[in-house]
Amino acid sequence: MTAVTAQANAVPTVAAARRKLAERFRNAGFDSPDLDARILVGHALALDHAALAAQAERPLSKQEADAVTALAERRLNREPVARIVGVREFWGLPFKLNRETLVPRPETETVVAAALAMLGAERGRPLLIADLGTGSGALLLALLAELPAARGIGTDISLGALACARANAIALGFANRASLVACDHGTALGGGFDLVVANPPYVARPEIADLPSEVREHDPHRALDGGPDGLSAYRAIVTDARRILTPRGILVLELGAGQLDAVRRLAADAGLASTIRHDLAGIPRALAVTVLP
Ligand SMILES: C[S@@+](CC[C@H](N)C(=O)[O-])C[C@H]1O[C@@H](n2cnc3c(N)ncnc32)[C@H](O)[C@@H]1O
Repeated sequence: MTAVTAQANAVPTVAAARRKLAERFRNAGFDSPDLDARILVGHALALDHAALAAQAERPLSKQEADAVTALAERRLNREPVARIVGVREFWGLPFKLNRETLVPRPETETVVAAALAMLGAERGRPLLIADLGTGSGALLLALLAELPAARGIGTDISLGALACARANAIALGFANRASLVACDHGTALGGGFDLVVANPPYVARPEIADLPSEVREHDPHRALDGGPDGLSAYRAIVTDARRILTPRGILVLELGAGQLDAVRRLAADAGLASTIRHDLAGIPRALAVTVLP
């Protein structure tokens, strides 16, 4: 056997598999090739970050190398890493996902931060929270983690999403403070909510076809489709806000790009005052809404 053939047939080590994957992802133009490679190799080998480092020079078995290759192919077909591994971190907590849940986005953490800032000294009270369109339960459970005396209800029209949110509530230890309800936005809820949050579907239907394939082909359509102008869910939620909220209650809505003025107008038409919250990139990302006396 020549030296070249021997090298080609050499069994890659854990570190070499990571490097090779990162290089393929870099060549494919991915934003975070090294991170994607680390997560996928770790997932294929069932190794956490520390174990990956400790076993860096261990050669892969044929079965392990095949498992890495299979995940690499899925990623190169533009499947998001969170979909492949079935979990995504949000507000420092791990959220399991399924086919009916949106992958929680970092910018949605602006909604949590805005809600906590608005609550201020009220944070220790036994608040009642609603999360409309809860998906994986990201907003509701992040808030329950920060508000130890609060209870909350998450709603969704997707039973699959509600099952996922329920599993996350149990796994994260919030099952006794979180309820999940199938309904259209807040229609099945009574009043008396101190805080209502929502990251509603807000993509204008004609624009869904132009979304990157990572989003268009892997996030559920129901989580994206905001109706003909992207504002259908905002209309429904804002119109119902006065009924659901306590008189001093707060509604915090995530905004899609370019939707600030339209959503502010909807809020004003419903007799609500609003304050803008920006994300880390300085984009108006959340609208905090209160009921005008
Ligand atoms: C953009 S996703 C947000 C999910 C989650 N809150 C998050 O931030 O990751 C919107 C969610 O609203 C749900 N949804 C869509 N239309 C709805 C409706 N009419 N009533 C209740 N939930 C709805 C979708 O199933 C999806 O889970």
